[in-house]
Amino acid sequence: MIAAAAALAVGLASCASFKHLTQVSDTFPPAKDCGKCHVEIYDEWSTSDHAHAYTNPQFHEATDDYAFGDCLSCHAPEPRLTAARPAVRTSGREEGVTCVSCHLEEGVLSGPLKPTGKVHPHPIGVRPEVYYDSGICGRCHEGTMAQWNAAPSEKSGCQQCHMEPARRKVTQATGGVSNLLVAMEKEIPVRRHGFRIPPDSQSLGYLVLSVGRSDTDVAITVENRCPHDLPTGDFGFRAVVLEVFARDERGGASPVGRWELTRELGTAIESHGSRTWTLPVPEDAVLTRAVLTRRSYGQDSILLAEIRLEGRTP
Ligand code: HEC
Ligand code: HEC
Ligand code: HEC
Ligand code: HEC
Ligand code: HEC
Repeated sequence: MIAAAAALAVGLASCASFKHLTQVSDTFPPAKDCGKCHVEIYDEWSTSDHAHAYTNPQFHEATDDYAFGDCLSCHAPEPRLTAARPAVRTSGREEGVTCVSCHLEEGVLSGPLKPTGKVHPHPIGVRPEVYYDSGICGRCHEGTMAQWNAAPSEKSGCQQCHMEPARRKVTQATGGVSNLLVAMEKEIPVRRHGFRIPPDSQSLGYLVLSVGRSDTDVAITVENRCPHDLPTGDFGFRAVVLEVFARDERGGASPVGRWELTRELGTAIESHGSRTWTLPVPEDAVLTRAVLTRRSYGQDSILLAEIRLEGRTP
């Protein structure tokens, strides 16, 4: 193995073709180049909202065909990690929030971990204090970051909820030299690059929905245990909708209540806050169901939480 590593190191060092991974001029290393070795991360990222931050039709329209220069920086950020809000990129804007905008620092690709393998086709920086901190997200998610800072202490970082845990090697490429590279790495705990609403927010207790019932009334409570508002976000349209349905003995379901939480209406629930709504239930209702979903323009609604209450009396 040592001999193989040495041979591979010589091979890689003499192979100038890896220099492009850390070089920025008029262009920058595109995500698909990183994807040749970091196969799974690339796949996760390419279906995330980050990859589409610039081409997103909502954004395209809201900026009047990209005419509003002040809007572009976070949606097509410069090809390097910055401490504060990034500047806008000059080329390849359609790649949105791309790999090097979070990982390239002065010719080094930085991440949270010590390398597990013996050979690296590009220089590596080990910076857990940057990559495990919410601040790396907060340089663009400014409003959400301010909410996070104000939230009660004992809070998780953004990565813990928006980058799902996984156990795997740092690269997954196959074929020729790549097989050797990958074989020398170890499986370790890492996080996926999906950057999405956690699909199991209810079971993980991030959002809690409860229903209480008397003879005539139903009381529904939504509790936000996230370290930011429900809903959060500074831009675009985003609402969290609570809907209540009652079902009678014959099986017919009817909507009996609907409320919208939005920043615009001032109805967002702050971190660790809760709100209760009470409504009368039709007399013959045998089952009540409350559903919490996230809505936005041009996207499917996302189920956040759901609860059922059976029986006529409490
Ligand atoms: C030829 C294969 C290859 C390509 C292409 C490649 N990498 Fe890597 N990368 C590696 C290997 C190998 C490691 C070290 C893995 C180990 O030893 O655990 C690594 C490590 C990293 C790390 C450090 C992770 C950590 O926390 O230690 C980051 C960040 C990274 N790469 C980002 C990128 C980015 C961004 C690109 C595209 C610009 C890229 N890589 C292109 C093979 C590659
Ligand atoms: C919005 C910023 C952001 C973008 C964009 C991004 N990453 Fe990361 N990346 C992170 C953070 C944060 C971590 C650390 C996550 C953790 O473990 O808590 C990380 C971890 C990593 C690691 C180290 C551990 C591992 O998961 O194997 C590698 C390698 C990596 N990223 C490569 C990439 C590549 C390749 C791309 C593009 C396809 C990319 N990243 C896009 C923020 C980003
Ligand atoms: C360089 C700027 C930038 C950085 C850094 C960044 N984001 Fe984003 N993020 C965006 C933009 C812009 C969007 C909106 C993309 C869209 O919907 O078109 C977004 C969208 C998201 C979304 C989805 C929101 C939605 O509308 O569904 C989540 C979740 C998210 N980011 C989490 C994170 C996390 C976690 C980090 C840190 C690891 C992070 N982001 C770092 C710019 C950034
Ligand atoms: C405890 C888990 C948790 C943590 C920690 C967390 N979030 Fe969230 N986040 C959620 C849940 C659940 C939602 C969906 C409900 C909502 O909008 O509040 C969400 C929604 C979002 C959205 C809006 C997505 C959309 O499309 O509506 C963004 C953007 C976001 N989070 C960014 C962040 C950032 C940035 C951080 C760190 C400063 C962070 N989150 C920390 C759980 C978390
Ligand atoms: C400081 C960084 C930043 C700047 C500057 C910025 N955005 Fe965004 N934008 C974001 C982030 C982060 C998101 C993800 C959700 C959120 O926080 O609203 C986003 C999301 C959006 C969305 C929602 C996309 C979707 O599908 O939900 C639209 C539309 C949008 N931005 C338009 C704009 C416009 C118009 C401007 C200029 C007035 C602008 N943005 C400037 C960071 C930024």
